[in-house]
This record gives sequence, C-alpha cells and structure tokens, in this order.
Amino acid sequence: MPETYNPQLGREHSYPYEHQEEERDWHWGMIININRCINCNTCSFACKSTWTSGEGEEYMWWMNVETEPYGGYPMGWDMRLLDDLGQDETIFEAAEEGERVKGYVAQKEEWEYPALGDDQVHGEYPTGDVVESDLENDEYHDMWQFYLPRLCNHCKNPACLAACPRKAIYKREEDGIVLLDQERCRGYRKCVKSCPYHKPMYNPETGVSEKPVGCFPRIEEGNVPRCVSSCIGKTRLHGNINRGPDAGHPGGNASAAAGRSPVNYLAKSDEKIALPLYPQFGTRPQVFYMPPYHVPPEFLTQMFTPNTDEKRNDWPGDTFEESIKIVQDRVRNPSHHTLGILQLFGATTRLIETYTVKEHRVKGWDRKGNKVVDMPFEEEMEVREGEMWTNQ
Ligand code: SF4
Ligand code: F3S
Repeated sequence: MPETYNPQLGREHSYPYEHQEEERDWHWGMIININRCINCNTCSFACKSTWTSGEGEEYMWWMNVETEPYGGYPMGWDMRLLDDLGQDETIFEAAEEGERVKGYVAQKEEWEYPALGDDQVHGEYPTGDVVESDLENDEYHDMWQFYLPRLCNHCKNPACLAACPRKAIYKREEDGIVLLDQERCRGYRKCVKSCPYHKPMYNPETGVSEKPVGCFPRIEEGNVPRCVSSCIGKTRLHGNINRGPDAGHPGGNASAAAGRSPVNYLAKSDEKIALPLYPQFGTRPQVFYMPPYHVPPEFLTQMFTPNTDEKRNDWPGDTFEESIKIVQDRVRNPSHHTLGILQLFGATTRLIETYTVKEHRVKGWDRKGNKVVDMPFEEEMEVREGEMWTNQ
C-alpha cells in the first residue's frame, strides 16, 4: 500500500491510493462551535427532509446530534473502534488480512436509539436533594455533558472510498466532496463497515448503499449546506478548507479580500482553535470542532488529538492535555481576530470564501468576489428621542 503523509497525525501511514489533497484549489470544510449547540436537531431534520425521506431511508440520519459522553448513533460507535485499535494505529494500519480498513458493521439494534444517552450528565452528583451552586468546594461543577453534531467529514483519506471493491465511491475533483455512485454500487457494504464515523448506510429497498453528499447542489450555487443555514444556534461555518494565506482574490475581483478563508484560519492557523474528531483513525476528517470549554481536558484529549506519547511542536502545549486546556481557553476568551470570525457564523446563507477583520468590523466575500457580509462586532443601536413609555 502507498504511504501518505497525514498532517493531523504528523506522520506517514499506509493508504490504498496515492493522492495529493493539498493541491486542490477548493476543498469542502466545516467548523462547528460545540459551545453554541443546544441539541435542537434543526440541522438533523433539515438534512433528513432534504436527502433521506424516501423508502428504505427511514433509519438514515446523515446529520445527527448526540450527547457526550453517553450518546452515540450507532450506539458506542467510537469506543467500539478505539478499543480495537492498537497504540498509534490508524484504521488502515490495523486492517486484517484481506481487508483494507479496520471496521465493524453496527447491528440493527445499535441503530434503533439515535437519542439514547441524550442529556445524560457525567460525574459526581451533589449530595443534597437539589443541585447547589457551591463554588467553593466545586461540587456543582463535577457534572458535565455536551452535544456533538455529527456528519460525514468528506475526509481527505476516506475509509469508505478505500474499502469499496467496486470503486463506486469517489472524491469530486472540484471540491473534494465524497460521493457514492449508486449505478456502480452492488451493495457489498464494505463502505458501511469501514467508515469509522458510520455515515454510509445501506438501503434494503434498493439493495445499494447511500452516503451523505455534502449538500453539493447548494455548494455549486454558492450557498452553504442545509445543516449550516438552518442552525438556529449559529454554530457553524462552511467553506474552502484549502484556501490558505497565499491565495489570491476570489473570482479575480481585486476589490475582494485576498488570502485565506475563515474556515482555514480556524482550523489551520497558528492560533489552533478548531480540531478534527478522532484524528487517530487516520481518515483526515474535514469537519473541525471548537471544543467545549467546561469539559475535563483528559476526555477531550482522547477525542480531538492524535493522543500519542509523541511530542508535537505544532500544538501549543508540552503535552496534548495541556494543549487542549490552551485551546479551551482560546475558545472561552477568543482573540479579537477570532471574535470577528465568530460573527460570520450564521451571518449569511452564502458561502464565504474570504474575509477581513478590521477594528470592530468584519466583512466576507463569496467565490465570485461579491461582498456578502459587512457587519460590526456588535449590533448598532438607535436610541429614540423622547420619553419612554411606561405602564405607570
Ligand atoms: Fe467516507 Fe466516512 Fe469519511 Fe464520510 S466520514 S468521507 S463516509 S470515511
Ligand atoms: Fe462499494 Fe459500498 Fe456499494 S462497498 S459496492 S459502495 S455498498
């Protein structure tokens, strides 16, 4: 198997195909600020009503939100796989003989409870009858949970693509979206078994599998995916993860800002602030999460770092756990620049290709170089002259 460099792990590992993902001008990417998610599942229903409301698709939730640490769809999807992987072993390196990827097929009952574990908290309960906010002995703060929105990551090393013997899964040249060709598919279900995030799903009515499509028809028209535009918590930002600091003006329009995209800044700048989910699987997922700042860092270390003993200079702390604490602090107390980018979340349904943050104003341009956002950090207020009405 060819070796591929995985920047999320800082090392090479085997992957069945040779490819140069960094050379694409455009690659689908998403940032999710977990701290803003309230588990309303508006995203899940928007996705389902758009894409999976047909026959045989009843159990398919391409977008779901689960409660950590007890939720999971399918149940226990992450721990089951992590338990099977050796130290520093990706799912490609751990593959058994005759297979290309290590995985498992979740059984029917594991798909039957998408909301199991919802709102269940972890930690010590206080001894009193009611929860008291006793800041001195910290008892109240021992309990924690958080919501984790989950979707296909349109990975740069897709396990689904690697596993399919029919080559029915491919990455689109123009945007890196990973699609499944149902005409080629013969229902072998290696993709279902291999995706560590369990997003390809089998349709028993048609006899072929289906997988999330990254809302490509909307992307082609310059709009963000449905889960992003419908999110009432404004948790998400979508865009070109490959647009780095050296990129030119979008659409060749000199009046638009040149340079990196806002998603690229949050995921790839030195101010590391958004992290991939379970990078140790090795698929290079392209959804990046701003981690919850109230959760014990040791839990998040397992979830959002390569989680090895190796020292890594591209992380802000001496250890991964220390790095997570620093990232949590950056999310809780964002820099002026990040605060500006946070205003772009949910600001428009148009896809923001480039941006500027100047003083207290943030602006964004689409792929053609048209301005789509121009707003202050704080909403302007107009105070009317005259007496206030009171009910006295
Ligand atoms: Fe494939 Fe799963 Fe990655 Fe999506 S998340 S591209 S289905 S391996
Ligand atoms: Fe391939 Fe998955 Fe179909 S493995 S043949 S795309 S079911």
